[in-house]
Amino acid sequence: MAAAFLYLLLPLVSWSLAGGQSCTHILPTASAQVNYNTIVGCLRGEQQAGLSAGTFLLPHGIRLPPNTTLFGVPPNASSAELMSRLVLAVPTAITHYLLLVGSHSEVSGVVLDARDNLLGEGCCKCVLCIYGNFSQVSNVEAMGTSTGVGVHFESPTSRGNTVSETSVRACFYGVAFASGLSARQANAFERGVLENVLCDAVSFAGYGEVRLTTIRRSGYACRPPGDGEAPAGAGFFCRGNWDGAIVHANQVVDTCGMALDVDSCSHLDIFNNTFSGPGYDWDGNFTHCWGALAASLLDSQMCSVSRNLMSNGRESNRLGMSHGDQHQVFSELATAPFSDLPNGTDTVLTFALLHRPHAGAKPSINNEISNNSFTSRCAGENATCVGLAYFVGRGTGLEGRRLPGHAWGERGPKQPSRFTGNVEDADVGSVRCGENAYAAAEPVCRIESDWPCNADDYQHPKENFRNNLHCQDYVDVIHDRPVDQNGGGLRQPLPIVMGQGTPRWEM
Ligand SMILES: *[C@@H]1O[C@H](CO)[C@@H](O)[C@H](O)[C@H]1NC(C)=O
Ligand SMILES: *[C@@H]1O[C@H](CO)[C@@H](O)[C@H](O)[C@H]1NC(C)=O
Ligand SMILES: *[C@@H]1O[C@H](CO)[C@@H](O)[C@H](O)[C@H]1NC(C)=O
Ligand SMILES: *[C@@H]1O[C@H](CO)[C@@H](O)[C@H](O)[C@H]1NC(C)=O
Ligand SMILES: *[C@@H]1O[C@H](CO)[C@@H](O)[C@H](O)[C@H]1NC(C)=O
Ligand SMILES: *[C@@H]1O[C@H](CO)[C@@H](O)[C@H](O)[C@H]1NC(C)=O
Ligand SMILES: *[C@@H]1O[C@H](CO)[C@@H](O)[C@H](O)[C@H]1NC(C)=O
Ligand SMILES: *[C@@H]1O[C@H](CO)[C@@H](O)[C@H](O)[C@H]1NC(C)=O
Repeated sequence: MAAAFLYLLLPLVSWSLAGGQSCTHILPTASAQVNYNTIVGCLRGEQQAGLSAGTFLLPHGIRLPPNTTLFGVPPNASSAELMSRLVLAVPTAITHYLLLVGSHSEVSGVVLDARDNLLGEGCCKCVLCIYGNFSQVSNVEAMGTSTGVGVHFESPTSRGNTVSETSVRACFYGVAFASGLSARQANAFERGVLENVLCDAVSFAGYGEVRLTTIRRSGYACRPPGDGEAPAGAGFFCRGNWDGAIVHANQVVDTCGMALDVDSCSHLDIFNNTFSGPGYDWDGNFTHCWGALAASLLDSQMCSVSRNLMSNGRESNRLGMSHGDQHQVFSELATAPFSDLPNGTDTVLTFALLHRPHAGAKPSINNEISNNSFTSRCAGENATCVGLAYFVGRGTGLEGRRLPGHAWGERGPKQPSRFTGNVEDADVGSVRCGENAYAAAEPVCRIESDWPCNADDYQHPKENFRNNLHCQDYVDVIHDRPVDQNGGGLRQPLPIVMGQGTPRWEM
């Protein structure tokens, strides 16, 4: 009651600063309410609040008014005390955020620690939330919500915001771009570090751009409280987003699930990234991470994947160690799981382009896979598995709609994905089901031919654009499992409600 009262009156009363202080040098006090009033008073009165080093406890989050600047001393790794920290002192449901950034504002040099004190069950909790236009955030650390998002571009109307040199950890999701954001709006996250994120480090429910960012040690606790097996969280996750995204020059290493997990998306541009070490299991603590690929595009269209280095070398990533072929994409219907792969369940796979056998699955067509380097080795003493650089599944390159006059199993015009200039370092270069185009412009690809040939093109028949001949399509479609047709979404929808099974943020 008292807090709400003060909150409402603030624009009317003048705030007072203790001796020696100004709005460019605010000192922390022991009272969360006084800290809040001082900071908000400065933002409203002088359009700026400069925080000295120290911990500013807060009773609830701060909403930055438009055209204001909030700054602290930049994070200094050699001395934690020399940072400006905004910390939620007590559990609160008054705000869903710790810092909410509107338009034309700047934030820099602050640590934002929600301490898992954001309790509201409304949608959707975030440590740093961006809802306006043309704001700049830099040198921030965001942490402490095991049921929310670290940095959330939460409004579908936001545009022109950039978050740079920011780290996120100990959050359920790292960075999320809301459904409805489009490429005209260009919100970006750059030069950041995402680590120890419980679920997906970056989620593209709508359009976003992520560049020059390091993602590591994330994705091990992706299950909301309740029953069911934990899915493996990814570096980059996209599902049902037709607005696209840019994924450029990032490093993804040691994620529980895939570095890049794309399902039913289009217009993703993925280039110059390094994806390595999927299936990281924290010294054997998280076996549900096993059996991971480095990257896959499932039922996706018009995506470009070029100049990336992708590798997978863990023996524990043999596909037989995974939770099975959950989308039924690695074998003909009614045959053994993974039987389209050269060594079945003993295959370690780096990249896959896939299509579900389900009625209603989006077609997997018109993607561009160029100039990537795929490494797949089955490392480990006495390892008997086979490293496969890439696998292209049944039904890819084929239009998925049931056209008038076509029976199931018949398809409309071909719309192949095009593979050029890819190189493999693996036991087996590629398995090519579906009907796609491999260096289609080049009639002859010999061993060690240059672009546009793919390094293992010479091992595939020249006929039929170098596709494997015995696994173009599924014999039938499955009708009983409709594919989720909603728009872009997160792996686990928000809000994620705190429960007993929720991991603590300190993990
Ligand atoms: C904030 O700044 C922008 C650009 O400088 C300006 O167009 C806008 O009117 C300002 N808004 C307010 C509320 O002052
Ligand atoms: C970080 O703090 C140390 C003292 O702990 C200081 O010597 C150093 O200059 C600071 N670095 C920056 C970039 O502020
Ligand atoms: C951001 O800009 C869009 C138009 O581009 C507008 O609809 C929206 O209201 C703006 N958001 C804010 C918080 O001003
Ligand atoms: C991509 O990486 C290559 C090789 O590292 C580099 O030469 C090129 O400038 C990069 N391109 C972009 C757009 O970053
Ligand atoms: C694995 O779990 C053990 C026991 O809880 C813990 O001591 C160890 O630090 C964990 N390893 C990693 C890499 O998290
Ligand atoms: C494939 O697996 C079988 C056992 O299932 C093994 O004997 C064989 O050597 C493997 N093939 C390769 C190429 O390693
Ligand atoms: C792939 O490499 C070739 C040869 O270096 C180059 O001509 C082509 O533009 C590249 N394509 C992409 C999409 O990077
Ligand atoms: C590999 O095989 C050797 C010889 O059979 C055995 O001594 C060793 O324990 C095996 N290593 C592993 C990791 O299984």
